[in-house]
Amino acid sequence: MALTIYLSLFFLIAYLVGLAIHRALFLRDKRRMMQESRAGGKIVARVADVEPGEVKKFSIICQKYRVAGFLVNDGGRFHAYVNRCRHMPTPLDFIRDQFVSEDGRYLMCYTHGALYERGTGLCVSGPCEGESLYRLPVCIDQGDVLVSCPEGNISHLAD
Ligand code: FES
Repeated sequence: MALTIYLSLFFLIAYLVGLAIHRALFLRDKRRMMQESRAGGKIVARVADVEPGEVKKFSIICQKYRVAGFLVNDGGRFHAYVNRCRHMPTPLDFIRDQFVSEDGRYLMCYTHGALYERGTGLCVSGPCEGESLYRLPVCIDQGDVLVSCPEGNISHLAD
């Protein structure tokens, strides 16, 4: 009986400590987001630093959620998407930082091989064909790429 109580207390304390650490990290990221933002959104890259065809990961704080995203330079036009496959809620880069198909034409989910158009986010092949990645608003300002939060309820996009 005493062992059960001690174990329950141990797991309760471990849970509360984990919760406190998670909250502290979230507040740190929120503070950073405010420091790295201006009208238009968070600065996620310099235009010159992401070559055509390249992808760069980032995260932003939207409302009370952390949203993992990635930026893609599609022939000089920048697009940002939530880093979540439309087949299952996993990041596209199951293999670390790999987002692009072998021929370089598509964004690819490395879990089951879904292919997405870089410019529209539309899934053109694989188990989520016809669905689209969740788009994040992008703007270019003073040579920086800024990404902002989508409107409305975004709880389903949270990391
Ligand atoms: S999770 Fe992306 S294709 Fe299955």
